Amino acid sequence: MSKALITGGAGFIGSNVAKLLVDEGYDVVVLDNLSSGYQRNLATLPTVEFVEGDVRDVEGLSQAMEGVEVVFHLAASVGNTRSINHPIADSEINVIGTLRVLEAARHAEVRKVVYSSSAAIFGELKHLPIREDHPIEPDTPYGASKLAAEKHCLAYAKLYDLEVVCLRYFNVYGVNQRYDAYGNVIPIFAHRLLHGLPLTVFGDGEQTRDFVNVRDVARVNLLAAQTAGVSGAFNIASGTSITINQLVELIRDVGGIQPAVEYGPSRQGDVRHSRTDISAARMVLGYEPAVEIADGLAEYMAWAKGEMV
Ligand SMILES: NC(=O)c1ccc[n+]([C@@H]2O[C@H](COP(=O)([O-])OP(=O)(O)OC[C@H]3O[C@@H](n4cnc5c(N)ncnc54)[C@H](O)[C@@H]3O)[C@@H](O)[C@H]2O)c1
Repeated sequence: MSKALITGGAGFIGSNVAKLLVDEGYDVVVLDNLSSGYQRNLATLPTVEFVEGDVRDVEGLSQAMEGVEVVFHLAASVGNTRSINHPIADSEINVIGTLRVLEAARHAEVRKVVYSSSAAIFGELKHLPIREDHPIEPDTPYGASKLAAEKHCLAYAKLYDLEVVCLRYFNVYGVNQRYDAYGNVIPIFAHRLLHGLPLTVFGDGEQTRDFVNVRDVARVNLLAAQTAGVSGAFNIASGTSITINQLVELIRDVGGIQPAVEYGPSRQGDVRHSRTDISAARMVLGYEPAVEIADGLAEYMAWAKGEMV
């Protein structure tokens, strides 16, 4: 049985990766310091070995990596606003933490590291569709730290006998994603809907976004691990986009609640349209997003109701 380590495996995306790996027969170890993750995200996965630890801790990391074939590195200080408020902690976790993971991985003779990168590395979007070679000019400490970590990953892939794939996620949504006032629009809408609050749309709502379901993101992590001989960085999204007004309609249809919708001024720096080119991941990793937004939202709202996110 293949053994996998998931750093940040108690978080939103990491817990979905854990579920898929268990379903696929992997022996799974999760290392997480629970700073933004929840052990209950793993409650339905009793075979997962949970290690409460920090990716900055060399000793704990090397112990957790014993006998591991693949590392899924998701542990991070996540988000632009948090990074602006805590730039040093952001880099200590995202850059030095990633270097610690890479060092431990090569010493443990891990075959592959799959690193969760972010669209935040691009900064302000210059042109569409967003391919891998879109200008990379992060405009927050978070974007800069995710980029630095990505570069370290790719350097390790050149220097050592270690394959490293970086997956740059765009807007991910789905089960285990909890409400956070500065977070993504879908959990914010779900939270407001479930608490009888009006939904606020910035601008006219005709701006488009590409939302990718976390089950597709988990799947591409597995594909990246299983595709032998590949290192590199790939854009990961759904490849389709919807307007925020369409999102409002869909979410109230599946939620079965009719909220008031308020329109506010456009937010500074918000891009009008977003469209991501995922053909590289399609071609090289065999990635094919499979979850339709209406189905993904229905699944998410059912979960969100149970949790009252
Ligand atoms: N959610 C998105 O839309 C999105 C988009 C782009 C990239 N990403 C990336 O995906 C990864 C997972 O993000 P998420 O949305 O699941 O966030 P999350 O906050 O739910 O998950 C991060 C996990 O890492 C853990 N963690 C944080 N610091 C740690 C440390 N020092 N040591 C050990 N564990 C630590 C947290 O407790 C948490 O469980 C991150 O690397 C993030 O940068 C997410």
